[in-house]
Amino acid sequence: MSTDLIALKEIEDGEAKRVDGPTGEVVVVRQGDGAVAYINVCPHLGTPLQMDDDEFVTDDGAHLACMTHAATFRISDGFCTSGPCEGDTLESVPVTVVDGMVKLA
Ligand code: FES
Repeated sequence: MSTDLIALKEIEDGEAKRVDGPTGEVVVVRQGDGAVAYINVCPHLGTPLQMDDDEFVTDDGAHLACMTHAATFRISDGFCTSGPCEGDTLESVPVTVVDGMVKLA
C-alpha cells in the first residue's frame, strides 16, 4: 500500500511544499500534473533547504535552492548545479500521482 504525501492541488504548479515522509521531511515539487520529491536535506551541511516557509524554487522555476549558502539543484533530478555542493545530488524520493494525490511510489 502506498503512502499519501499531499494532494497535488495543494501545491501551485512549479512550486514546492514540505511534507512529512516516513524517513523525514520531503520537498514535493509540482510539475503540471506530476510531481518530483526530494528529502529536505542539503548535501552540503545536512541542513534543511529552506529558511522560511516553503521557499524552495528559484525565480527561473528550474531549480530548488538551499537558502543557507545559495546552492541550486535542478528540479528534474536534484543535481546541484552551483554552490558549495556542486556536483552532489539531493536524495530523490520516488513519487507518483494517482487521482490527484501525490503518493510514495
Ligand atoms: S547548507 Fe546548503 S548550501 Fe550550504
